[in-house]
Amino acid sequence: MEKIIIEGGSRLYGTVKISGAKNAALPVLVASILTDKENRIHNVPLLKDVDTISQLLRRSGVRVERNGDSQIIVDASKIDDTEAPYDLVRTMRASVLVLGPLLARLGKARVSLPGGCAIGARPINLHLKGLEALGAKINLEHGYVVAEAKRLKGNRIYLDIVTVTGTENIIMAGVLAEGRTIIENAAKEPEVINLANILNSMGARIRGAGTGIIEIDGVSELRGGEHTIIPDRIETGTFMLAAAITGGSIKIIECVPDHIEPLTLKLVEAGIVLEIGKGWIKVQGNERAKSVDIKTAPYPNFPTDMQAQFMALMSLSEGISVITETVFENRFMHVAELRRMGADIKVEGNTAVVKGVQKLSGAPLMATDLRASASLILAGLAAEGKTVIDRIYHIDRGYEAIEEKLLGIGAKIRRIKG
Ligand code: EPZ
Repeated sequence: MEKIIIEGGSRLYGTVKISGAKNAALPVLVASILTDKENRIHNVPLLKDVDTISQLLRRSGVRVERNGDSQIIVDASKIDDTEAPYDLVRTMRASVLVLGPLLARLGKARVSLPGGCAIGARPINLHLKGLEALGAKINLEHGYVVAEAKRLKGNRIYLDIVTVTGTENIIMAGVLAEGRTIIENAAKEPEVINLANILNSMGARIRGAGTGIIEIDGVSELRGGEHTIIPDRIETGTFMLAAAITGGSIKIIECVPDHIEPLTLKLVEAGIVLEIGKGWIKVQGNERAKSVDIKTAPYPNFPTDMQAQFMALMSLSEGISVITETVFENRFMHVAELRRMGADIKVEGNTAVVKGVQKLSGAPLMATDLRASASLILAGLAAEGKTVIDRIYHIDRGYEAIEEKLLGIGAKIRRIKG
């Protein structure tokens, strides 16, 4: 198993270019199922999760070709299978996004239930509630969702809990349904807007993406086209924190500052100096961040996907920070690893109380999930001495070329074959 080794203590200086957003690319690639025309998608990051979704599409007879480092051509004209098997779905929960498009295009789907993941149970009951509301017959058989629908019909759907992929699944089912679909309490994430804009460029009729109420008027078919994935706001935030936690100065380019505003505001509160321009953010770390409290919640609030990384910064802050995680029930697995580095963190339910310490010391660590891995890398960059992080395959799911990007701004980091 590969490991990452970091010699901590270097302030990071330089410029980092942000890649396309994992959580925008996944639904957009799956949306290609909705048409028999070719789609060219630009700014698709080279990530394990993108490989997994590509593998799943190819398995269904969809042509998926990488054209250079960041373009993928997708052609679902010859799609011939409607199954998403357990061995693929269990490695990446977002595979359930094929449900809506398969039902809409082919009238049936057999998709493995994802099972839980490290950060929580991650049920898909709201996905299924939405698809049933559109007329799908859904049965659960031997761990699989077996769904059928002659023609989906528009309906009004209220999502009891904000779910990004749940919203995306229902949007993709609704674009080819008969009549109007209205999604209430819809997710407002930028990745939902990116998907809706791309579907509209293919001929869909979606209004209200980015608000809590999304209306979709079904059409009979969709065109192909050329599309671009938005920059990754979580990668952006992670490099912002790399500057803050090492006391360096990093200019982050080809990003969308507005998409990471909740973190920007918290970093300003913590005394970090930021400069923001068109498509770039410059972050100037300082000796020690002030402690600030955060509470994660759906967009436009503080993103749960930045919670672990922010906790690394607060571990070295000059006071006490209260971190409340409201989206997932088990997203504190980085706490035990940060403690091994000397962090002073107490967890009570979904709240972590972080008492800043003067220094962290490098240690052998275990990555447990994607964003926890990023948190450990940030802590290792700031710690004294050597940090060795095992199970680093987690980070490859969501960060393109992270070592190269960190090496480019002065980090002492390398990957070894375990
Ligand atoms: C998306 O997951 C992201 N993944 C996650 O990013 C992100 O953490 C999450 O949104 C929240 O922002 C993608 O976009 C591919 P959920 P999503 O499971 O929408 C409850 C990363 O690190 N829920 O819907 O799949 C659920 O229990 C990943 O990049 C139901 O109860 O998140 C949770 O409390 C991690 N029933 C909340 O909703 C359902 O049917 C959101 O979880 C669906 C969800």
